[in-house]
Amino acid sequence: MGDLVIVTDDGPIRTVRMNRPEKKNALTMAMYDAMAEAIESAAQNPALRCLLIAGAPTAFCAGNDIGDFIKMATGEGALGAPILRFLYALARCETPLVAAVQGNAVGVGTTMLLHCDHVVAADNARFATPFVGLGLVPEAASSLIAPRLMGQRRAFSLLVMGRPLSADEAKAAGLVNTMVAPDAVEAEAMKAAREIAALPPQGVLASRRLMRGNPQEIVARIDAEAELFKTRLQSAEARAAFEAFLARKK
Ligand code: COA
Repeated sequence: MGDLVIVTDDGPIRTVRMNRPEKKNALTMAMYDAMAEAIESAAQNPALRCLLIAGAPTAFCAGNDIGDFIKMATGEGALGAPILRFLYALARCETPLVAAVQGNAVGVGTTMLLHCDHVVAADNARFATPFVGLGLVPEAASSLIAPRLMGQRRAFSLLVMGRPLSADEAKAAGLVNTMVAPDAVEAEAMKAAREIAALPPQGVLASRRLMRGNPQEIVARIDAEAELFKTRLQSAEARAAFEAFLARKK
């Protein structure tokens, strides 16, 4: 088994690739840590002008590993520190973030995109946040950013009702910039990343700060959601939903 997250620097672009395709890129604690590290350390390298988050051809990311959710629920019920580290890294990141999405983006696979500046999706992409159906609540400050981005009703349908968005719908909702064929996603995302990287960096930094506002507001929402998430993780509803997923017959 290779690295679960592959980080590659190519000139001004750092690609952070989730690489656990056999589990549809469900994220483990080690993966959150590796992704957080890649994002945080980009800030120390001024030659890096853009981050590109990518997944596998068959799956962008299936969300948090449900086995880990069970461990968290039966332990202290706290959200793992690596999860919060990753979410804070997204909220505080000052390097522009581009994402290349193919296949399913579930849970944090979708909510991490709310922190990105530019999203390219394959026409087979599907975005879903089944938090409430799993007995949980939305995370990653999605309860704040999604209603702002797509309006209360579309955000409610996605985050609370758990209705997935197709690539088309995600584009109409403002979550996706460009939709292309699956085999063109990575090249299209890299093109956007290079375009951003070629801009005057101080101008990008200042404009991005103006547009994103105070990251502390996002961090505070991440914390508020995490408190509720912790309680919900220990609920009988959540436990039953996790066990049903892991025991399901194919
Ligand atoms: N946690 C743990 N394992 C996961 C997982 C997750 N979030 N998502 C997928 N897997 C595992 C499956 O259990 C399966 O493992 P197995 O081969 O050992 O049985 C493997 O990954 C492949 O998944 P599978 O469901 O067969 O792939 P699919 O292409 O039919 O469906 C998904 C892909 C992403 C739609 C589906 O796996 C899914 O709904 N996953 C759960 C997503 C989720 O609810 N995440 C939490 C959000 S808060």
